[in-house]
Amino acid sequence: MNASEVLADAVDTLKASTAIDHWQRDREQIEADELLRFAMGVDRVRPRDQVSPAVRRRFGRMIERRADGEPVQLIMGHAVFRGLEIAARPGVFVPRDSTEFLAEQAIRRLVRRRRPVAVDLATGGGAVALSIANEVPGARVFGSDISLAAVRVARQNAEGLRLRATFVRGDLFGALPRRIAREVDVITLHPPYVARGEVRELPEEILRFEPVHTLTDRSPDGLGLIGRAVAESPAWLQPGGWLLIEVSPDRARSVAAVMRRGGFVEVRSTMDRGFKVTRVLVGRLAA
Ligand SMILES: C[S@@+](CC[C@H](N)C(=O)[O-])C[C@H]1O[C@@H](n2cnc3c(N)ncnc32)[C@H](O)[C@@H]1O
Repeated sequence: MNASEVLADAVDTLKASTAIDHWQRDREQIEADELLRFAMGVDRVRPRDQVSPAVRRRFGRMIERRADGEPVQLIMGHAVFRGLEIAARPGVFVPRDSTEFLAEQAIRRLVRRRRPVAVDLATGGGAVALSIANEVPGARVFGSDISLAAVRVARQNAEGLRLRATFVRGDLFGALPRRIAREVDVITLHPPYVARGEVRELPEEILRFEPVHTLTDRSPDGLGLIGRAVAESPAWLQPGGWLLIEVSPDRARSVAAVMRRGGFVEVRSTMDRGFKVTRVLVGRLAA
């Protein structure tokens, strides 16, 4: 069988799956292509390429797992985030393409600074922190997460990618070194922001494969952790430093209000023109 035939079968299987959230046009085709390239160990597959029986079997097992709802990144064991191969492990939030915009917003503010310092709260596997370490020369980068599993994966990622970033386990700022208090240029946060009562409405593939503490802080409005981060950030930021928070579009207005009430200025909601599924709220500590 050639790649085109193998892919056509796989796309049919994915389209028929009730465990997958079919929110994006051509998502099944994109994911099947990605998994076939991975199964074949190549960067590009042409429609007439022959697919050996062994590769077909391996690819078939991957498609079965995907049709059962498992994210592509967990099947492959990694996600590609701003060109970095970030390990994806069960129990640790899988970094999303949409979060690349949060990293971009941080990087463009950090590259202008002398001796930049960045903190990525709720860092998960460290994708945002490591992108900053990779793209901002000389940056001192810290990531923190309440989950030990996440911190372990973030440290492994840093080691594997030979990037310098310090990952600590703690509640928000709790485990960060005091010496960086009032020295931080940019704080990034992609928090669990789903309201307690809305968790059960999430797509099955998220509910089954992402730990619940990565999705919700169990507050009634989903703003509990965000409110704390806004209140605690001024003690860590230097004057004129930035707080950047990624949320869903329906939360953007409330998060902006929390930031303004918390004393942040120049608060606005920014959006990636390509991915319209999230917003990044940016705000600055008055200089
Ligand atoms: C939506 S995930 C984002 C992970 C990562 N920043 C990313 O974008 O891929 C939210 C993260 O918040 C972490 N978290 C939840 N409560 C926390 C807390 N109180 N302090 C620090 N991290 C927390 C979870 O463990 C999870 O890794």
